Amino acid sequence: MIASLATYVPPRLLTNADLEKMVETTDDWILQRTGIRERHIVDPGVATSDLGKEAAIKAIANAGLTPADIGLIIVGTVTPDMMFPSTACLIQHKIGARNAWGFDLSAACSAFTYSLTTACQFVASGAHEHVLVVGADVMSSIIDYKDRATCVIFGDGAGAVVVSAAQVGGPQILDFEHEVDGGGGGALCMPAGGSLKPASHETVDQRQHYVKQDGQTVFKFAVRKTEEIARRLMERNGLTAADIDLFVSHQANRRIIQAATEKLGVDPSKVIINIERYGNTTAATIPLALNDAVTSGRLKKGDLVVLASVGAGFTVGAVLLRWGF
Ligand code: UT7
Repeated sequence: MIASLATYVPPRLLTNADLEKMVETTDDWILQRTGIRERHIVDPGVATSDLGKEAAIKAIANAGLTPADIGLIIVGTVTPDMMFPSTACLIQHKIGARNAWGFDLSAACSAFTYSLTTACQFVASGAHEHVLVVGADVMSSIIDYKDRATCVIFGDGAGAVVVSAAQVGGPQILDFEHEVDGGGGGALCMPAGGSLKPASHETVDQRQHYVKQDGQTVFKFAVRKTEEIARRLMERNGLTAADIDLFVSHQANRRIIQAATEKLGVDPSKVIINIERYGNTTAATIPLALNDAVTSGRLKKGDLVVLASVGAGFTVGAVLLRWGF
């Protein structure tokens, strides 16, 4: 079960008004087409492990644990501090989780659902009692602030949960469903900086170390798959949209969430949308949305929750759970 949750966003705000001064865009266009008003971005020198550390320390304390109680750290991110060592190693050191091993999980915007499912397997098998899952991204480090089609969308942030063994009959992670469709790789990627195209003067001149996105292709895939995977998961568990207490989608675009949940028949009052304040923080959107649901009283112990995500890859994920605290 999810035993605790904490989030962290850097204090600095990047508003639509700020972006109007940087590229040819308007507050109105951004708000209408994406639902975003502002996003948080880091100051220079602040990395993904710094954001992840803040969320991790709070999540462990909120679970009534100490870092030494954590057996495994899984960090979902597409913006690791560096190619290696992994961000999980960096966070392990920064929080002093001396008994933990760990690794990074690369699934872009599905990183949180993938990491949660992975953590759940280690707890369900009895291998670990407490697993720390961190979803953290410094998207501002890979965004081209000259490209209006991508720079208005993304923000930085982190969320962390502790996944612990459930009491018999108590709240727990009930089921999951995941997919990849590798044929969609070209629609959303960062072309250079890996083994295919190592950094060179040419890759820098061609601005290939930034996110490139075919927005409409991703949009259509996200609407279709968010609905499809959530429906499959609910049907397999004998549930309809009316049985769900809260639907928490990855926050990529308000219109994607609204279109997918409308098709699913989920009442809008059960759908969390907080993209307005954070933008798309990639691996951190779902914990940030869960945190808003908890603090606003919309999510309580025992509630039936569906998480859903679609991201670069393409990666697709959904998790069904009863909220644990
Ligand atoms: O989390 C990972 C997954 N990512 C996503 O799920 C993102 C999915 N895609 C989207 O959210 C949307 O496709 C975008 C927000 C990226 C773009 O919205 P859209 O409604 O699909 O716009 P579009 O790409 O069809 O562009 C419409 C027009 C174009 O102008 P013309 O060709 O019609 O003259 C664009 O050049 O809007 C223009 N445009 C902008 N105008 C003002 C694109 N970006 C901007 C901008 N400000 N920032």
